[in-house]
Amino acid sequence: MTENIFPNTLSVVIPTYNERENVIKIAQYVEQTLRIDYEIIFVDDSNDDTPIILEHLIKSDPHVRYEHRENARGLGTAVVRGFEIARGDTIAVMDADLQHPPELLTYMFKAIESGFDIVVPSRFIPGGDDGGLNLNRKIVSATARYIGKAALKKLRPISDATSGFFMFRKDVIKGVTLRPIGWKILIEVLARGNYARVAEIPYQFMPRAAGESKMSMQEQWNYLRHLLRLISDSPEDRRFYFFAMVGLSGVFVNMFIYYILTRLGFEVKLAGLISAMVAMLINFLLNDKITWANVGNNSVLTRGIRYIITSLFGIGINIGVLHFFYYNFKFNHILSNLIGISCAVGWNYLINNFWTWSSTGEDKRTSVERQTVDY
Ligand code: GDD
Ligand code: MN
Repeated sequence: MTENIFPNTLSVVIPTYNERENVIKIAQYVEQTLRIDYEIIFVDDSNDDTPIILEHLIKSDPHVRYEHRENARGLGTAVVRGFEIARGDTIAVMDADLQHPPELLTYMFKAIESGFDIVVPSRFIPGGDDGGLNLNRKIVSATARYIGKAALKKLRPISDATSGFFMFRKDVIKGVTLRPIGWKILIEVLARGNYARVAEIPYQFMPRAAGESKMSMQEQWNYLRHLLRLISDSPEDRRFYFFAMVGLSGVFVNMFIYYILTRLGFEVKLAGLISAMVAMLINFLLNDKITWANVGNNSVLTRGIRYIITSLFGIGINIGVLHFFYYNFKFNHILSNLIGISCAVGWNYLINNFWTWSSTGEDKRTSVERQTVDY
């Protein structure tokens, strides 16, 4: 990290890959629009003559710096490199191709000055427009956003988290190790950064000025891998998956003990009762040690009792729902049971999360304030 941080200075990080027709244009555009101290950092992986153009550009425009990475590729890592060498106390990221209107930088900076930690211009709030994408990309983009919100809690309040256009106080990533895979560096900042207030500003995503998009199938795949990594690094997001795995393992424990007991000559109902009890106990211990490890301020006895109460209600819900769908809607009984089980799993997870392992104050809530700016 750069040691010399300049206050009230904006570092605009622009990743470039073969943007020979755009780099001069965007530098001029930013120069015309900004009335604050700023620098532009191009982090360039080009294999065309973009570096030569950048070399000329730094001589004519003192605001511009660039770093060329020989034989390196990757938008996310390029942007992280830009963060490392940025000298401003505020950092913006934008594309080189003028799809992100530079005049917005001024309003984003004002929002930062007024106390927001992160500002995300959005195509998907009233006043915004994603006109820069064709229908196919619109569908892929919407799906990606939806999956992101389902996967990570921190993305839920943000309407345009897959964007490549945003600004934040450098403190947000202080002491944080960023390990992006692929393109979506904003989700990395949102998932790992330290912040409390996020502003959104509607904007119109423009068609590309020149050259062509470098988006590919590979990047969609990278996005999914990136989400998986962020889930597994986030205790609150991975919890449900741990819970589901523990629950599944409980089915096998239950069947195994049931099998042994019946082989030993136990009566079926008694064997069923004992194996269910043992499975419940083992599930509780696994959930206590893994799923909700280090969460909750009650004694283990209280947690155990709450877990059992929750599970008993869960069984009631399972059977109630089964009954309802089977008798009232004449659903197949296996399907009815499956719906019942799903409801019980959802119930058990939620109640255990908020009651059994009640974690007061553990989750730092992110408040998203939407600021609408006309420009
Ligand atoms: N250094 C570097 N290395 N820069 C790269 C690389 C790379 O491997 N690949 C792409 N870039 C640069 C491009 O030169 C451009 O400045 C910026 O990253 C975005 O690339 P585009 O090819 O213009 O992407 P896009 O317009 O299809 O996608 C943009 O919009 C999406 C929203 O739908 C990006 O901003 C995406 O991040 C965003 O999700
Ligand atoms: Mn683009």
